[in-house]
Amino acid sequence: MSKEYKRTLITTALPYTNGPVHIGHLAGVYVPADIYARYLRLAGRPVTLVGGSDEHGVPITLKARAEGVTPQDIVDRYHALIKESFEGLGISFDVYSRTTSDIHADTASEFFRRLYENGQFIEKESMQLYDPEAGQFLADRYVTGECPHCHNPKAYGDQCEACGTSLNATDLIDPHSAITGSVPELRPTRHWYLPLDRWEPNLRQWILEGHKEWKSNVYGQCKSWLDMGLQPRAVSRDLSWGVPVPVEGAEGKVLYVWFDAPIGYISNTKELYPDSWETWWKDPETRIINFIGKDNIVFHCIVFPAMLMAYGDNFQLPDNVPANEFLNLEGDKISTSRNWAVWLHEYLADFPGKQDVLRYVLTANAPETKDNDFTWRDFQARNNNELVAILGNFINRVVVLTHKYFDGVVPAEGTLEPIDEALFAEMAELKNSLTENLETFHFREALKDAMAFARAGNKYLQETEPWKVWKENPARVATVLNVCVQVCASLAVVMEPFMPFMSEKLSAILALGKLDWNMVGARPVAAGTLLGKPEFLFEKIDDATIQAQVDRLVNTKRENEIRNFKPAPVQSEISIDDFGKVDLRVGTVLTCERVKKADKLLKFSIDDGTGTPRTIVSGIAKHYEPEALVGKQVIFVANLAPAKIRGIESQGMILSALNADGSLVVAAPSADVSAGAQVK
Ligand code: 2FM
Ligand code: ZN
Repeated sequence: MSKEYKRTLITTALPYTNGPVHIGHLAGVYVPADIYARYLRLAGRPVTLVGGSDEHGVPITLKARAEGVTPQDIVDRYHALIKESFEGLGISFDVYSRTTSDIHADTASEFFRRLYENGQFIEKESMQLYDPEAGQFLADRYVTGECPHCHNPKAYGDQCEACGTSLNATDLIDPHSAITGSVPELRPTRHWYLPLDRWEPNLRQWILEGHKEWKSNVYGQCKSWLDMGLQPRAVSRDLSWGVPVPVEGAEGKVLYVWFDAPIGYISNTKELYPDSWETWWKDPETRIINFIGKDNIVFHCIVFPAMLMAYGDNFQLPDNVPANEFLNLEGDKISTSRNWAVWLHEYLADFPGKQDVLRYVLTANAPETKDNDFTWRDFQARNNNELVAILGNFINRVVVLTHKYFDGVVPAEGTLEPIDEALFAEMAELKNSLTENLETFHFREALKDAMAFARAGNKYLQETEPWKVWKENPARVATVLNVCVQVCASLAVVMEPFMPFMSEKLSAILALGKLDWNMVGARPVAAGTLLGKPEFLFEKIDDATIQAQVDRLVNTKRENEIRNFKPAPVQSEISIDDFGKVDLRVGTVLTCERVKKADKLLKFSIDDGTGTPRTIVSGIAKHYEPEALVGKQVIFVANLAPAKIRGIESQGMILSALNADGSLVVAAPSADVSAGAQVK
């Protein structure tokens, strides 16, 4: 950090309240922001962590329409769920409010009005898509069509999720209304535009010259936007859900959600500090940090800063925007509409008391520089091999040994040996690296440093072997255990930003009181302190628990495949004579076995009514156990020219149908039929 600021305002992207939050949101935004806020608090630096719900925008009205309820019902439902689940995970917001609050409506209206009165907008009429059947303009996600850039057929009116390009609804090829499915027409409408181009020189100077230290993904995206040249951006919409445009003649128009949402950071700060909020926004001694996902970069680095510049009045721009990339789930993009996600509220219900495990895994695997993948097997392995085997094990051994040899009373430290000094020196180095990594938003590396305290402690215990020394030298054991207890105290502090629940338990065991970053590497536990009872801070997660989560995802995938199944196009027409040439018969399976060294093939012997069994080789071994087919009837093509497959002559083809989810069913008569009967 180049400058010492008096205070830090941390904002977290306000999630849309059209669904619950999932691990992608957590890994990208909320867990890192919480780590940073908790670290600053421990370091004694004033900080405010601002969160809240983004309750306007088309995704919410679309969801309400689909469910036949009001948008207010939707936002009430998800705001409550999201707020509660963030609390459950220990995200330590100082305020978590919502953009449907009165304070927000006032703040956003005032913001717009000031820009309007100061001539900061361009007002212009343009042709926009209109759905005559629904009787409304089709803003943003109310329209879908083909992306003009990557030709994804399901791009939205404001963005193509396949290539990430932000779009205008009129850019879409072959647009359709998301409300009625009809083809929209163009109608004229008036809107207010923020001329971003006016602010381009200031933005260039501020970002490209002033913030070369930003993460390369953030800096690079800003540079490419600026190099493409900025255009005026509409800040109003023809919609009924949102903050009404607060000027005369604007009936039926609301502020664009991306105009009002970032102002929500200000409204929420106002709600928290009605008298002193301006200190947090307008004092140059305040440092503002925006935690967001990569899809929000342009809004936080270009659009909102331009709004703040246009507003003036000393509003401070963010000092850093440590945007993360995306987290995938088991190799696939997380998707709310496909239900491909690990939902926070479900995780909390399925894994009670294991909030820290999720926080740990999401940080260890955070998508800081590239997209990353969450898998349940990795979750299990990190819990069992790292949290249980390294961290939990060290702490447990220290507390158990102190109870065993000293009745739980921390013994006094005697003369330090080189190995003891070396451990304190190592902790001092780790503290430096950890602090530097936290200061620069490298939380994955920071977590490795924090875990290194436990690794160092384990190694020290292994090398000093107090259990072997006890008999002949109890004074040495006293020193060793005192040193170990101090390492545990460091762990309680360094782990607090990452795993506040275990830190709280450990602090209670060590009777540490209020934690402080200065305790790290020091000796905060006085000799004579009575330790609490040993307890396991982490426990193993078994295979069955993980399998249940994997199975749930497998089911989701199957359901999605079935829902999205589109039959293959019908092949070109054939005549009745053509069809008549195909001789289809019913046969009964006499034997069925796998073909050696061919994992897809089954070899059938079929009773085809002729008295001589017929051999057919079929590529369905992945779908059936051979024994399950013996005695069953099948339908086969009887007059197909024989073919050699793996050295076996196959005399026909068994018919089967492939399901939408990739499973396969052999075609069979619905009741028993004489073997050899023709199918017509
Ligand atoms: O992408 C999103 O989920 C938005 N709701 C984020 C808004 S961030 C802020 F500006 F409010
Ligand atoms: Zn695209």
